[in-house]
Amino acid sequence: MHQIAVLPGDGIGPEITEQAVRVLTALGLPLELQTQPVGGAAYAAHGHPLPEATLKLAQSARAILFGAVGDWKYDNLERHLRPEQAILGLRKALGLFANLRPAILYPQLANASTLKPEVVAGLDILIVRELTGDIYFGQPRGVRTLEDGPFKGERQGFDTMHYAESEIRRIAHIAFQAALKRNKKLCSVDKANVLETSQFWRDVMIAVSAEYPEVELSHMYVDNAAMQLVRAPKEFDVVVTGNLFGDILSDEAAMLTGSIGMLPSASLNAAGQGLYEPSHGSAPDIAGQNIANPLATILSAAMLLRYSLDEAAQADRIEAAVQSVLEQGLRTADIYEPGMLRVSTSEMGDAVLKALK
Ligand code: IPM
Ligand code: MN
Repeated sequence: MHQIAVLPGDGIGPEITEQAVRVLTALGLPLELQTQPVGGAAYAAHGHPLPEATLKLAQSARAILFGAVGDWKYDNLERHLRPEQAILGLRKALGLFANLRPAILYPQLANASTLKPEVVAGLDILIVRELTGDIYFGQPRGVRTLEDGPFKGERQGFDTMHYAESEIRRIAHIAFQAALKRNKKLCSVDKANVLETSQFWRDVMIAVSAEYPEVELSHMYVDNAAMQLVRAPKEFDVVVTGNLFGDILSDEAAMLTGSIGMLPSASLNAAGQGLYEPSHGSAPDIAGQNIANPLATILSAAMLLRYSLDEAAQADRIEAAVQSVLEQGLRTADIYEPGMLRVSTSEMGDAVLKALK
C-alpha cells in the first residue's frame, strides 16, 4: 500500500486536487490517500498554516499531492502564519531540495503562447531549482536599526544568501542526471559576476561536471538567461539554478508555454519522497467556480507516480490521456481559443478519466 498525503490548500486548490485524486484512484493501484488542510484553510481551521497533523501526515507519506496555498484574506497575518509558510515549511521539514519544473509546450496549444509559434513550438525544457537553501532560508534575516554608515539610525531590512558545497553538489547531480536522460545539455544559471555565492556555485558545478563527461555544461548570468529564455528558449535543455533565480526563471519559462495551468512540478528529497504540485498558484479570484484548469495537478500526479512510486507506465498512461483530451479539443477557460470546446474543471477531469480507459 502506498501512502499518499493529499493537501488541497486554498483557492482553486481543492477543486483541482479533487480531479487529480479521481484520476489516481481510477488507476487501480494500491494507494491509500489521506487528506489534511494546509495553508490558509489550515490557519482558518487550526490557527496555523502547517498544523502538526498535516506535517505528520506529510512526513509519513511516500508522496504528497499538493494543491496551492494563498489567499488575500491572509495577506495581513504575521509572516509565520501566512499560507506560503506551509509550503516553505514542508520543503524544509522534508528536505525537498530538488525542484523539477518542466516547461513543455504541447503541440495542440501552440497558439497559447504570447511568443511567435516558431520561437516556442516543440519547447521542452526542464528547470531544476534548488529549493531548500539560498536567500529563501539564509540566516540572519530581519529588520534592524543601523548603528553606523550612511544610513545610520535608519531601519534596514536584510536577508542572507549562502550555499554550502554539499547543497550545490546534490542539486548538481540531480541536474546532470536529468540531462543524461534528455539532450545532455545543462545550463547553470548564476550571478557570478557580482555574487560570491554564485562564483562558488559555478566552481562546484564545474567540479561535479567532471563526473558527467557526456553532458555539455554551460554557464549563464541570470539577467542574460532571462533574456535568452524569451529570445531562443529552445536553445535550453536542462537549466539548474538556485532557489531565488529558479523561482523567477521558472515562472518565465512557464509563461513561454502560455498555459501555466498545464505545468506540473516535483520537489524531491534524498529518500525519494516527493511533493507534487501544479506550478501555478491558488488563483483565489476564480476559486469555487469550477473553471480552473486541473491538468497541471493531474500531470503532477503523473510525476508522483513516476518519481516516488516507480510507476512509469501509469504516469505514461495519464500523460497520454491528457494529450488525448487536448487532441479532442477540450479546453478550460485559461487555454480556450475559438473553435475549441470549452469545459469546466470537473468536465476536464471526466474527460481525462474517460481517456484513461
Ligand atoms: C513557488 C512559489 C513559492 C516560492 C511561494 C508561494 C513561497 O512562488 O513555488 O514558486 O517562492 O517558492
Ligand atoms: Mn514562484
